[in-house]
Amino acid sequence: MLIFAAAIYNNTFMDLFEKLQKNLGPLGTHGSESHGYYMFPKLEGPIGPHMMFRGKEKLVWSLNNYLGLANHPEVRKADADAAAEWGMAYPMGARMMSGESNNHEALENELADFVKKQACILLNFGYQGMVSAIDALVDRHDVIVYDAESHACIVDGVRLHQGKRFVYRHNDMESLEKQLERATKLTNETGGAILVITEGVFGMSGAMGNIKEVVALKQKYQFRLFVDDAHGFGTMGATGAGTGEQQGCMDGIDVYFSTFAKSMASIGAFIAGDKFIVDYLRYNMRSQIFAKSLPMPLVVGARKRLELLRTQPELKANLWKITNALQGGLRDNGFNIGITTTPVTPVMLNGTIPEATHLTLDLRENFDIFCSIVVYPVVPKDVIMLRLIPTAVHTIEDVDRTIEAYSQIKGKLAAGEYKKDRIASFA
Ligand SMILES: Cc1ncc(COP(=O)(O)O)c(C=O)c1O
Repeated sequence: MLIFAAAIYNNTFMDLFEKLQKNLGPLGTHGSESHGYYMFPKLEGPIGPHMMFRGKEKLVWSLNNYLGLANHPEVRKADADAAAEWGMAYPMGARMMSGESNNHEALENELADFVKKQACILLNFGYQGMVSAIDALVDRHDVIVYDAESHACIVDGVRLHQGKRFVYRHNDMESLEKQLERATKLTNETGGAILVITEGVFGMSGAMGNIKEVVALKQKYQFRLFVDDAHGFGTMGATGAGTGEQQGCMDGIDVYFSTFAKSMASIGAFIAGDKFIVDYLRYNMRSQIFAKSLPMPLVVGARKRLELLRTQPELKANLWKITNALQGGLRDNGFNIGITTTPVTPVMLNGTIPEATHLTLDLRENFDIFCSIVVYPVVPKDVIMLRLIPTAVHTIEDVDRTIEAYSQIKGKLAAGEYKKDRIASFA
């Protein structure tokens, strides 16, 4: 009571919203001046390499529509037909309670067959599903060992973990071994087990995870491997079955995850693995037990997308034709595109955040090119990363135009032109 009175007297109570207003968060802080342009831009018109931004056509390199399925006529028809037939509500309820359907089961079987696993479970969203799967797989006696550059959904899943977590340096097998030694020692004491988590393709750098080398460490250490292949599914491997297929080590991936948000150009995700572990997740993953089943149009639409992904290899061939032209052209013109071996194409330039802002504005307004810009703290200070995502529906003309534009902005950046407040604002 006394403390309460003192708090009122000293006026130390703070309203939650008042407090939040004082600290809007790292992105929110820039919200007012960037909203609608650098953040929350509206790309309008049919999804593809050419879309409208603020009333003008732009060449777009920022969508993970790798295979160009987003606006494929067969996909659009399947989505529309399914929406007309089922509506967006069916089936209602969580799958466990009342939301099961033959189409959900069929899609799971088709995905499992495609990635050569015994079984598969659908997830409503990749991010939320990943967090929930990590939560379901480990308890406080277990240790998670994960790559330092893991996607936010892995990091947030690991945050929920009540036991120890050890991070290893990005793709560094020596560092992984060190952490596995620590984890082994600890689990010998706790009676727990080890889960290693990494990605098939890292979405910022375009580097592939060293999955084959991680799998090889199973000879020496006892652990299970969980791979997030969001960017690898559909883009990597002879059939598009992902990074495990590409590296010839799919069998060593115990829990294989991908999302429908990229190559499949939709919403939803899945986990594939041995029947036992998929059934375990079916009965233990809170994000699926306590949430409504995926609506039928998304499930039927995903079946059509998977059918096209499997039966139209020219989609992946086109993606790689554009990828190779873009990456080859950039390298030939002296650009640093880092260590990518996948379609993700980061272009690294040196400059400050204000320069990045002016350069982006120039690129968008004067060259009509729209790509994602990544700055500190995602990349080191004074690095500007222009991230390009080639797709099967881009053309060689798009590539040539982009390389020409990039050469010009690189020259302007080096000449200090973006230092001036010449290009002041988009408003
Ligand atoms: C590596 C990775 N994992 C998971 C996700 C999340 O997937 P979703 O968009 O389906 O939530 C993303 C982004 O979409 C991603 O890039």
